[in-house]
Amino acid sequence: MSDEDVNIKFRLLDLFSDLDENELQSIESWICSRSYKEDLENKKKLKKSEKLLDKIGDAIKKLVPFEAEMSSEQIVAPTIGDQADCNKVNTCHVDEFLYDEKQVTKLVQQGKLKRHYCLDCHSRNVDELIFISHSMSKQALQYIFKVLLPKDLGEKNVLDVGSRLGAVLYAAYYFSNASKIVGVEMNKDCCDVQDKIIGQFNMDINRIKVIHSDIMERQDIVESSDIIIINVLDFFVDIEKHKEMWYFFKKHIKKGSYLISNRSMADTLNTLDIYEDFLNWLIISKPNQLENEVFFDVEDYSELFLYIVN
Ligand SMILES: C[S@@+](CC[C@H](N)C(=O)[O-])C[C@H]1O[C@@H](n2cnc3c(N)ncnc32)[C@H](O)[C@@H]1O
Repeated sequence: MSDEDVNIKFRLLDLFSDLDENELQSIESWICSRSYKEDLENKKKLKKSEKLLDKIGDAIKKLVPFEAEMSSEQIVAPTIGDQADCNKVNTCHVDEFLYDEKQVTKLVQQGKLKRHYCLDCHSRNVDELIFISHSMSKQALQYIFKVLLPKDLGEKNVLDVGSRLGAVLYAAYYFSNASKIVGVEMNKDCCDVQDKIIGQFNMDINRIKVIHSDIMERQDIVESSDIIIINVLDFFVDIEKHKEMWYFFKKHIKKGSYLISNRSMADTLNTLDIYEDFLNWLIISKPNQLENEVFFDVEDYSELFLYIVN
C-alpha cells in the first residue's frame, strides 16, 4: 500500500469513526450503489466548471487593484444592520470571488494580507480584522444555480442588481441555461471590467450583457426579469436610497419571479424599518434541486435565501 493510500484510508476512517451504526450503513449502501458513481461524476463536473471561474477570477485580478475597490467608488461602512460594526480601521475588503479561503491563507503567509490589527500600539493587544466581500464566492454561486434555482432556466431572464465584477453573471452563464443574463451596475469602471471579461472569454453577447446605470432608471429591465439576484448593498447606498430601492423593487418585480439574496429579507427590511410595508410580498421557497445538495457543505449556504414574489 502506498503512503498516499494510507493517508486516504486514514482520512476516511477518521470520518467514518464519527458516524453511528445507522449513518455508517446508509453510507455503505450509497458507496455500493449506482447513484454514488453518478454523484461522483457530477461532483467532478462541478469542480471542473469551478476551474473556469478560477480562470475568470485570475483575469479580473489583472484588471483591478488588489483590494478590488475602484478609486471612482464611494464605499462607506453602514451605520445600521449586521455590518454596522465595520469601519475603516477594523475592516478590509477581500473579494471572495477572486480569493477563496486557500488563497487567503496563502496571501497571509506571504505577508500580503493581515488578519489582525493592533488595538493598542506596541502591545500584543490585537484583534481580528473583519473581512468583507463585495462579490459572492464561487461556491455560493454554484449553490444558487445548482441547488436553489430550477434546473431549466431556458426562456428565463436573470438580472444581477449591482453586478460589480460580474461574478453572478459568469456563474449564470456557465452554470445555467438562462436565455438572457443582465447585470446593471452604477460604477463605470466596474462595467468596463465586466465588458473586458465577456470579450476575453468570448461569451455570447446576445446572452450576457452589462448595463451602466442606476437600477432605478431601468424599471424596464426589472419588469422583464424572472430571476433577480441582490447581494447586500449596505456599503454602496445610504439608508434613504436603500429604502427607495426596495419600494422600487416591490413595485416593478413581477409576480412569480424568484428573488435571491444573501441576507434574509426580514433582516434587511427590519433594519431599514420598512418591514410592515412588505408583508406578504415574498414567500420563502425551498431549493428546487435538492438532489444536488450532496455536493455542497450546506451549512456554508445558510445565508442564501430564495423567495418567490407574491
Ligand atoms: C455587494 S456588490 C454586489 C456584486 C455582485 N452582485 C456579486 O454578488 O458578486 C453591490 C454592487 O451594487 C452596485 N450598486 C449599488 N447600488 C446600485 C444601484 N442603485 N444601481 C446599480 N448598481 C448599484 C455597487 O456599485 C456594487 O458594485
